[in-house]
Amino acid sequence: MKKIAPSILSADFSKLADEIKEVEEAGADYIHIDVMDGHFVPNITIGPLVVNAIRPTTDLILDVHLMIENPDQYIPAFALAGADIISVHAEACTHLHRTITSIKEHGKKAGVVINPATPVEMIKPILPEIDLLLFMTVNPGFGGQSFIPAVLEKIKLADKWRKELKLDIEFEVDGGINSDTAEQCAKAGVDVFVAGNAIFGQTNRKQAMDVIREAING
Ligand code: DX5
Ligand code: ZN
Repeated sequence: MKKIAPSILSADFSKLADEIKEVEEAGADYIHIDVMDGHFVPNITIGPLVVNAIRPTTDLILDVHLMIENPDQYIPAFALAGADIISVHAEACTHLHRTITSIKEHGKKAGVVINPATPVEMIKPILPEIDLLLFMTVNPGFGGQSFIPAVLEKIKLADKWRKELKLDIEFEVDGGINSDTAEQCAKAGVDVFVAGNAIFGQTNRKQAMDVIREAING
């Protein structure tokens, strides 16, 4: 069953708990939380304090996407705050295997993220160690950008490896996802669809999610 992960980056931060409740009731599978530090990406967003505040408001899986330098330093804080999945950028980790091990030692699911320009071959050796592989389909930093179609080839290649090696990994896409781009990604092998603007940017969030769900399961 394919999953939808609304990104709260496009939600109304003045009523975050209500926004999360609304998408939870509309059938969201994960809540995607974008953490940006103003260094790895040119924007600053959410820290562990906010994750901690969100935690008691929902039973959904908190899918924490770290767009930060030196993620090793902050894994304990995000784990303690209540993250369920912690994903780190391959580009930000000098010792990626060590970082993944640390996430798992904190009892959390470990994800690796690659930017559009990063070859998927870079993370092939670590595939057996991870729970989630997140393909950025825009350059990270902001919501509302356009999907980069070249990423589809990387997804297809990784899907081939996943089948050959019989790996139990979820593939996720993030950036410019709407019903049209989600459908293309679903065909390439994606399981989890992050959408910010296409859900929180719409007045009827339930309808927005239903349209995406129909496209990915269709
Ligand atoms: C981008 C973030 C995304 C963002 C997606 O850097 O990682 O999660 O919220 O927003 P949309 O779906 O609007 O492209
Ligand atoms: Zn994200």
